[in-house]
Amino acid sequence: MRYGYFDDAAREYVIDRVDVPFSMTNYLGTQRMGAVISHNAGGYCWLDSPQYHRITRFRPNGVPMDFPGHYVYLRDDDTGKAWSVSWQPTGVSLNAAKYVCRHGLSYSVYECAYAGIAASQTLFIPRETGDADPVEIFDVRIQNTSEQTRRISVTGYVEFSFHNIDIDNQNFQMSLYCAGSFMENDAAICELHYEPDSFQFFAGSFTPDGWEGTREAFIGPYRTERNPIGVETGVLTGSHENGGNPVGALQKKLVLRPGESARLLFYLGTGRGDAAEDARRRYDFEGTDRAFAELKQFWDEKLGALTVKTPHANMNRSLNIWNLYQSEINVLFSRFSSFIEVGGRTGLGFRDTAQDAMCIPHAEPEGCKLRILQLLNGVTSTGYGLHLFDPAWFEGKDEEKEWSPTVIPTAEGAKHVHGLKDACADDALWLIPAIVEYARETGDVELFDIVLPYADGGEASVWDHMRRILDFSYSQVGSHGVTKGLRADWNDCLNLGGGESAMVQFLLIWATEHFLDAARATGRAEEAARYAPKLDAMKAIGQTTLWDGQWFLRGFTADGRAIGSHESEQGKVHLESNAWAVASGAATRAQGIQAMDAVDEWLYTPYGLMLNAPSFTVRDDGVGFITRVYPGIKENGAVFSHPNPWAWVAECRLGRGSRAMKYYDALLPENQNDIMEIRQAEPYTYCQFIMGQDHAAHGRARHPFMTGSAGWAYFAATRYMLGVRPEFDRLTVDPCIPAEWDGFEVTRRWRGATYDIVVENPEHVEKGVRRIEVDGAPVACVPVFDGGRHALRVVMG
Ligand code: GLC
Repeated sequence: MRYGYFDDAAREYVIDRVDVPFSMTNYLGTQRMGAVISHNAGGYCWLDSPQYHRITRFRPNGVPMDFPGHYVYLRDDDTGKAWSVSWQPTGVSLNAAKYVCRHGLSYSVYECAYAGIAASQTLFIPRETGDADPVEIFDVRIQNTSEQTRRISVTGYVEFSFHNIDIDNQNFQMSLYCAGSFMENDAAICELHYEPDSFQFFAGSFTPDGWEGTREAFIGPYRTERNPIGVETGVLTGSHENGGNPVGALQKKLVLRPGESARLLFYLGTGRGDAAEDARRRYDFEGTDRAFAELKQFWDEKLGALTVKTPHANMNRSLNIWNLYQSEINVLFSRFSSFIEVGGRTGLGFRDTAQDAMCIPHAEPEGCKLRILQLLNGVTSTGYGLHLFDPAWFEGKDEEKEWSPTVIPTAEGAKHVHGLKDACADDALWLIPAIVEYARETGDVELFDIVLPYADGGEASVWDHMRRILDFSYSQVGSHGVTKGLRADWNDCLNLGGGESAMVQFLLIWATEHFLDAARATGRAEEAARYAPKLDAMKAIGQTTLWDGQWFLRGFTADGRAIGSHESEQGKVHLESNAWAVASGAATRAQGIQAMDAVDEWLYTPYGLMLNAPSFTVRDDGVGFITRVYPGIKENGAVFSHPNPWAWVAECRLGRGSRAMKYYDALLPENQNDIMEIRQAEPYTYCQFIMGQDHAAHGRARHPFMTGSAGWAYFAATRYMLGVRPEFDRLTVDPCIPAEWDGFEVTRRWRGATYDIVVENPEHVEKGVRRIEVDGAPVACVPVFDGGRHALRVVMG
């Protein structure tokens, strides 16, 4: 069954059955202010940090789900009937009302038709230039579709949060007594009195006929947002208080003749009355329309960096719209603002951020560069990365966010640097391909020479940071000659008691290849002499020690046991080690074929590849936390989405395009729009994991949006399956596709030029290019052009 459909022309997912039993979320904001919001307008927003500057409250994992939100209530002042423009919070009977939600790129629209009134509410955050403060706009339109004149009260409502989310959730002796409300310039103001000069406002484009500033007065005792007393009676009392639970409820009373419409705007932002005035001035009706058009243009421009036209409609839909959108959101907001991650531990996860930044430098060069530079601040002089850190630690902003009378001693500088015992062996390694991909995309090789400090003191060039990371990784080798996993590798739960990790071994090989490519491209020939022998030695160990005869081992525990062996009873075959053995180029071709066939035999499900099989059922801390995770969930035998694209890359290296597509199709959210009873998650975003075969709810997806599978799916599909890869000195087109495809088209912007690529597949091969023409002339490779539009014809065979 389905709850909605894709409107590709509008780039929207349209939920026309809003009684979805789970939240379908979307994100607002493309700069400093962000919001995560459901198909029922439930959710929350923040400025800069969802942990330290939360603006609106959310009761996560609550009952009812997704409350509260950014709501607009309507009330028929003649009958007393009340409802909301989004189906929730009032939840009127869907037999009597028609509700639709349209999730677009950085905006959501709620539409309802009920009791002779049609209404819509568009939520979005305009893009700002300069240092103007951002606002969220509720653009509300109401039309009388009945035959009678109607008196309708419209009430916009938000519940403010204490800025520091930990205090808001736990320390009521503080949050309840230092937040207050008052009215200024017709705007409801929330003040955080302990924080110097700290205000949020909720205002309208109109002079309100009533308002409330306290939650208790608006909702009333023994009620919820479903039936606030203020909406039920239509009377708002003007409550305000120093201390308490500040809210903004603003009411406008309308009289609409038959067919007549009205438009009202609500603004949610930072500052007090003057800031509200400023928002009204900047975003009158015209300004709002302009801002909305600019937001659309912003996405047009971004998505225009790479567009595809393949015979696969859902692949087009994903790559042209939703997959890139999801990847952008990860680069922008990192991982700690969703309905699952509710903001209590913001900062950057080193490995996740590095991978996010690696995947979309073509569409988000500045954002990716910023993330890369921030991560470089988190590299220690020893060569490992800080697993989870707040870039503010290194920007001198530490003290700003914690200002409160409750004394919480702040750590300073080097105190944030954790020791080797908390280092994950893969973290910093991901940064090398991220840096190199950025340089390939932009041509900005000067980046390598920028000098930056290490997290624990001292400084060096970006190039030397990369060397330091490699040197550290090559030094961390266990008794089998395999790289150690340290605290964990990519798989947080496979700790191996501090043993050796095949995944890190292969990742190191891959990172070294990127590094050597960059060395060749920038005239650093001596690096090859230094690292090529180490690389060869690592590859040799990969092909021998880590080869189990039928597939690749996952590693060795500290006490010497092989993990992921054909002799293992549990966790026999693991996805990460096998996919990376092949994707990194470490495996021989024969090994690669055998290993990836084992992946297909053991790990394939119709919903994607499982991480390992069979799942672990016997607790064994020598293996790791994975053995304590329920079978079929997350790291223990789920279809963990993030490593799935690694297998697509591996299959593309083997030249098996149909196999890569089979895996791509299994994971593709858009393919599951009609099986929502199984998927139970948004069909327009990859989810972190899908319950595996060993779980009763096999196929159920969890953790939308915030997952590395977004970037990796995009990276693997565009660079390996469609095969369009920027190099330092050329654009490679090396597709690996299903044999039945006649071809496909890609338009790719790269370093100021646009390439219109037409790939033909007359002999119906899966891989191989026999002819390339640029602007009608045959070439050996596609050069870097300074600008202009260039036609590429690529003939496979
Ligand atoms: C989560 C973490 C990521 C980790 C993965 C597997 O997605 O964010 O860092 O690699 O789980 O454990």
